Amino acid sequence: MYSTILTEITNQICIIRINRPDKLNALNKTVIDELGQAISEVYNNNEIKSAVITGAGAKAFIAGADISEFLVSSQEEGTAMAKKGQDLFFRIENAPKPIIAAVNGFALGGGCELAMSCHFRIASDNAKFGQPEVNLGLIPGYGGTQRLTQLIGKGRSLELLMSGNLIDANTALQYGLINHISSIEELLNTAKSILGTINTKAPLAVAKCIAAANTVYDHTVNGYDEEIKAFGECFATEDMKEGATAFLEKRKPNFKGK
Ligand code: COA
Repeated sequence: MYSTILTEITNQICIIRINRPDKLNALNKTVIDELGQAISEVYNNNEIKSAVITGAGAKAFIAGADISEFLVSSQEEGTAMAKKGQDLFFRIENAPKPIIAAVNGFALGGGCELAMSCHFRIASDNAKFGQPEVNLGLIPGYGGTQRLTQLIGKGRSLELLMSGNLIDANTALQYGLINHISSIEELLNTAKSILGTINTKAPLAVAKCIAAANTVYDHTVNGYDEEIKAFGECFATEDMKEGATAFLEKRKPNFKGK
């Protein structure tokens, strides 16, 4: 069905694997289009409760946007490229289901930006992160200046953006860019285990956690007010009544996403 990505659904988790290992999974136009379709599937398929994005091979998650597509591009095309990538990454960030990145090697440029648009990140011990666009006379265009600064703070972010330096998994963990490090062999199992836990929780409440946390960075709304609204809305769900009843009856809840 796809030519540059692979998808499979196991235990209600959609595994999306960028599959251009010979080009270190660089994001060309086809990958962006196909990833967009896969994210629509995550939104719309009721069999999917959560998703993980990873890269094929043991060397790279994604080594950035495909540089071979840069030389033919004009200012207008560059602007359109950034807009298209940002639109896709906003859809990942605002998805009503958890989407996490399992970073299995280089996460550079657009690869780091894609990982940062996910709800959180885990990484293998050989992972390397960076925004090396300055080496190409560029800056990040898929939200990197914003999300890197949000995630690790302005000083660390600007050092990485302006130097193009890469950081290893331990530094990324120390910076708060990733939540966990595992061996490359165990990386996907770790992702599945975390998502397996989240998948047992009330789906509407999980979606509201994502939406509420995202308001922190949305200057057009008051996040505390949004939280009050979302909290109130939970009381109108069947799952909230099921969760409270199950607790009082000392049994496991059976959430239906209603
Ligand atoms: N776009 C297009 N092709 C890329 C790419 C990218 N971002 N990153 C790697 N590739 C390709 C290489 O051109 C090479 O293709 P080839 O075998 O046809 O020549 C292949 O992937 C393997 O990469 P190579 O550079 O040989 O591997 P390496 O182990 O020596 O170096 C990196 C790994 C990640 C350090 C290096 O590939 C790199 O610096 N990539 C670009 C990173 C970047 O600047 N990203 C931001 C883009 S905005």
